[in-house]
This record gives sequence, structure tokens and C-alpha cells, in this order.
Amino acid sequence: MDIREEMDRIYREVPLDTIPWNLSEPPRLLVGAIESGRITPCRTVDLGCGAGNYSVWLAGQGFDVTGIDISAEAIQHARDLAIREDEPCEFVVADLLGDVSAYHNSFDLALDWEVLHHVFPEDRPRFVENVWQLLRRDGLYFSLCFSLEDPAFGGEGSYRTTPLGTILYFSSQEELRALFAPKFEIIELATVEVPGKTVPHRVNTAWLRRR
Ligand SMILES: C[S@@+](CC[C@H](N)C(=O)[O-])C[C@H]1O[C@@H](n2cnc3c(N)ncnc32)[C@H](O)[C@@H]1O
Repeated sequence: MDIREEMDRIYREVPLDTIPWNLSEPPRLLVGAIESGRITPCRTVDLGCGAGNYSVWLAGQGFDVTGIDISAEAIQHARDLAIREDEPCEFVVADLLGDVSAYHNSFDLALDWEVLHHVFPEDRPRFVENVWQLLRRDGLYFSLCFSLEDPAFGGEGSYRTTPLGTILYFSSQEELRALFAPKFEIIELATVEVPGKTVPHRVNTAWLRRR
């Protein structure tokens, strides 16, 4: 099963309140980035936006948001949420490893909340190239993905299988530095703990500026 089918199945069959990553509260890291003035309302792309929680929340903070996800089922949830919350957002079904030329040079901020760990190493240069293409020069890219330092979630090692059956790639900081550096200035790279629905996660966070 490819990732599109896998994600469509999850978003169709698993109730949103039991999908492990689907948290309706905005993450502390995102709230903090706004409170500190690190990010301010701008043209934003929510990469792998899922059910649209953070897209809709950002729209409520004054951001002009386009959410992109490979799963049409996820995008339907996102559109429903935007209507319920009366927060206009654009939502697009697209593969972030595919052709994103319709949106070249369109955004000042790209948010990647837990998407990169779905992308295996051989596809990562293409993913990063596409994020680079989506952003305008000097645009900010915030990336958050599971860390190899996570003690137990999904097992151990780089490739891990989650309770939902998805296979994810857990990264080291060194891998991410090498991945991002050709296209982005690395402003900050850290490994921190974030809350999850069932267990907390060790994640890599990166603030990057498009060259
Ligand atoms: C762990 S979920 C996170 C969803 C959302 N960012 C959140 O935090 O609620 C990862 C999302 O990335 C999407 N995704 C994975 N690979 C993708 C790709 N190649 N192109 C677009 N979306 C992708 C999945 O469909 C899924 O909705």
C-alpha cells in the first residue's frame, strides 16, 4: 500500500480523536513562535496539513494559509473544519514529492509538522527541493520530525513501525544538517520533547531560511 492509500484509509476509518498525531490544540512550539515574534502573519504553506488543525488555527491568528496533503480524505476533514470555524484557508490535495510548480515562489513560511519522517532518505532531497521551490527567497521553513534519540516509540533504529502500521524514518541531527544545508541557512537545529496523544516524542526541530 502506498502512502496515499495508507493515509486515506487512516483518515477514513480511524476517528479523528483517536488518530495519534491529530491534536486540536495548537502546539506550544508554534504558539511560542508567534508570541516571540519569530513568525508573523504571512503567506504560509502547511505541508502535510492532515485534518487542518494547525492551518485553521494559524488562519485565526491572521496567517494566509494553504494546506497541502497527499490524502483527499484528510483534506476533506480540513475543509470541513475551516467551514465550522469560519476561517478561510485554501486546501490542496497534492504529493509533496511531486510537481508543485503551480505554487513556486508563493510562500513566506513553510510549516512541516511531522511530515518529513514519512519521507525516506532517498526521497528527502526532492522534498527539500520542493519546499525550497514553494518558498520565496529568505522565506522561513520550520521542520519537526521524529528523532533517532526517541527511546522507544515504534521500536528502535532509523525505520520504525508505529501502532497504526505506518513505517517512519527517525533522523539524527547530523542527517538533517546535511539534508538542509545545500538549500537553506540553518538558523537553529535542536532535539526536544513534544507531547503526543499517547506518549511524548523526542523530535528534531529546525528553523531554516531559504537561500
Ligand atoms: C503525522 S501526519 C501530521 C499531520 C499534521 N501536520 C498534524 O500535525 O496534524 C503526516 C501527514 O503528512 C501527509 N503526507 C505524508 N507524505 C506526504 C506527501 N508526500 N505529500 C503530501 N502529504 C504527505 C499525510 O497524509 C499526513 O496527513
